[in-house]
Amino acid sequence: MKIVFATHNANKLEEVRKLLPKEIQLLSLDDIGCSEDIPETGKTLEENAKIKADYVTQGYGLDCFSDDTGLLVDALQGAPGVYSARYAGEQKSAQGNMVKILSELNGNGNRNAYFKTVIHLNLQNHSYVFEGIVNGQITEEQHGSGGFGYDPIFKPEGFEQTFGELPMETKNSISHRARAVQKLVDFLKNQSS
Ligand code: IMP
Repeated sequence: MKIVFATHNANKLEEVRKLLPKEIQLLSLDDIGCSEDIPETGKTLEENAKIKADYVTQGYGLDCFSDDTGLLVDALQGAPGVYSARYAGEQKSAQGNMVKILSELNGNGNRNAYFKTVIHLNLQNHSYVFEGIVNGQITEEQHGSGGFGYDPIFKPEGFEQTFGELPMETKNSISHRARAVQKLVDFLKNQSS
């Protein structure tokens, strides 16, 4: 079985490839000659994931899946959500994004938030959606320098450290993305056996 992961991110590709049985050949956008940044014009994570997977399936006639992730903060009515990458502006600064959230939550006792990853899969003319969530709290200030994006201000439930402080293996065993990817992998393994 051959399937495209609609990403240019080599790390994400490798992460998923490692989990898949070898009968499943995973291709990146670069592998299929697609060098474009597919526009993410959806209003939800689900819409964006679908847009990217459909772009490949319709344009290249290939089975494909795509992911989209956001941080949803309760006290901000689910913001930044689908706009997580560019919350503080088009320069997509992780530092700027964290500063903006901390200032918006300044003095607010409700620090509840969660990361959500949505994966949209197009396989043999059917569509499937997989979701992974990790609940947690937004800290009062940044802690740690590991990971990326909002990791230094997100403390997952059951832990005393932020994703920026926790070892990468710990984050990767409980993260939103790992949970969604595991559901996808379990599904694909069943299809290919
Ligand atoms: P993407 O859909 O994986 O590109 O994620 C969109 C944005 O969400 C990123 O630019 C980050 O700001 C944020 N994000 C996604 N995953 C994580 C994570 O694991 N930790 C921290 N921030 C993340």
